[in-house]
Amino acid sequence: MTDIHAVFDGRFGRRPTHVSWAPGRVNLLGEHTDYNDLPVLPMALQRQGRLALSPRDDGRVVLHSTDPAFRPVEFEVRPGIPPDAPGHWANYAKAPADMLARRFAIWRGFEGVLDSDVPVASGLSSSSAVVNAVGLALAHINEVEVEERAFAALMADAERYTGTRGGGMDQAVSLAAREGYALKIMFSPLRLQHVLIPEDWCFVVADSGVRVEKSGAAQKTYNSRRGECENAFNAVVEEVMRAGLAPTTPSNYPDLLRMLEREELLALAENTLDTTLFRRLRHVVTEAGRVQEAVDRMKGADLAGFGTLMDASHGSLRTDFLMSSRELDDLVGIAREGGAAGARLTGAGLGGCIVALADRG
Ligand code: GLA
Repeated sequence: MTDIHAVFDGRFGRRPTHVSWAPGRVNLLGEHTDYNDLPVLPMALQRQGRLALSPRDDGRVVLHSTDPAFRPVEFEVRPGIPPDAPGHWANYAKAPADMLARRFAIWRGFEGVLDSDVPVASGLSSSSAVVNAVGLALAHINEVEVEERAFAALMADAERYTGTRGGGMDQAVSLAAREGYALKIMFSPLRLQHVLIPEDWCFVVADSGVRVEKSGAAQKTYNSRRGECENAFNAVVEEVMRAGLAPTTPSNYPDLLRMLEREELLALAENTLDTTLFRRLRHVVTEAGRVQEAVDRMKGADLAGFGTLMDASHGSLRTDFLMSSRELDDLVGIAREGGAAGARLTGAGLGGCIVALADRG
């Protein structure tokens, strides 16, 4: 790993006073469910974003990266920080600064050096690792104290500054994960459940090498999937109320699933929605069911059962949600041929990584 203290010294001529860090994540199950308030099951990676810093009292941030592709950036910490061009790395530092400045009277900036070994644009949340590391640093040096779950929700809101209408999974697992455990995350309100990973299980992450630039076409597709899920929800709720199937209007997907059995909901949706919206809804609703089952399989150390759920998740993302790609399908096939219990694309999809489950031996 890069010696960020030494790099900091080289750039600023003194030692940093603080280091903050936050890991990337791999999502094991529950893809495109978080922004529908449905559960997810990710775990943190050993890889992380690290920030060496020294506070400044003039409210400015001067940030260097150890990656020569990322030029130094400078901005003032205040509400309404103007963003750089979509996809610019500065936006991932500006995002938490802007949010914290809107919510709290903060006045300290910092000079810092950022280093990360989470591959960029690979579906492993390199972006949330940076948002969290910068957010934690700014909160600490400005004496802002926020409880862990509230801070995770705040950082999820913050990251929308970058133009992606993301859910809350990445920021929460990066802040709250524990070593050796997966994290079941439930939303509205945010709730966390640590699930011990059986010792002989091994999750293998493989990178397709196809970058998913969040600012480009992938961001547009991601945001449009989110819109489709909302449209499907609204149309189904209208039909549920018209048919008198619920006593009160369901306010989100979990509400809807509490009021109707999954099969009943799918039948009603199929009669109400066009094929595209029906498929989006079917992915979301069946994926939520798989997350609950996956938690039980993990607790029961049922490797084959967990693998089957991963395979089913990949199939649903490929055919109903259209977020796979030839490279991801190939990698998943190679993993299964190589003896994996199951494999699936991980993260938003369209490129990036797959995750496979295998017996450690
Ligand atoms: C991205 C988003 C997450 C989540 C996943 C898909 O990683 O940041 O909030 O929606 O895609 O599951």
